[in-house]
Amino acid sequence: MKVGVLISGRGSNLKSLIDACAAPDFPAEIVVVVSNKADAGGLEVARAAGIATAVISHKDYPTREEFDAAMDAALQDAGAEFICSAGFMRILSDGFVETWRDRQLNIHPSLLPAFKGLKVHERVLEAGCRVTGCTVHFVRAAMDEGPIVAQADVPVLPGDTVETLSARVLEAEHKLYPLALRLVAQGRTKIVDERVVIEHETAEAQAPLMMPPR
Ligand code: GRF
Repeated sequence: MKVGVLISGRGSNLKSLIDACAAPDFPAEIVVVVSNKADAGGLEVARAAGIATAVISHKDYPTREEFDAAMDAALQDAGAEFICSAGFMRILSDGFVETWRDRQLNIHPSLLPAFKGLKVHERVLEAGCRVTGCTVHFVRAAMDEGPIVAQADVPVLPGDTVETLSARVLEAEHKLYPLALRLVAQGRTKIVDERVVIEHETAEAQAPLMMPPR
């Protein structure tokens, strides 16, 4: 499966996907990395791996729809059949989401539907949660919503700061995203009534799939 990755920043999840795709039996390859920021660290990560990159700045387009159309064109030109958003910080238009419906994943650093949006780790600490985690889900029009492919739980430890907690969650993200992409690229996921059903999994593992990557 030919994948385009959308980024805005450092690109550590992108790196985990690149590394996974390097395995000969991995069922996906990254054909382009699109960033809305020219200084995104992930662009260097992509270039170092010999992957085509495109910078499409949202500031160059008067409307969200025109920006999204430019991204869509870059993805299509590169032959992408599927999108992985990995730290892409723009809200997508309904039209773009519909075009790529069931063909776009996102990773979010919480156990959705808890803690959608920004400043996740601050809010997890503020709430006194004992457990947090990360989620890979299919993208829908509402932010951080959509059928869940996989989740990993991560403990919140005494004395955690935003830095220590986000680092622990990020480690889990780097295992979870390749695992989720593999399942989808193998054609093992089906969306039924807006829930992901994974073939060849036991019933108890499906509701929703919780994958501690330890
Ligand atoms: C990750 O925590 C991801 O879950 C969130 O944004 C962050 C991106 O980090 N959506 P990176 O650019 O992949 O290092």
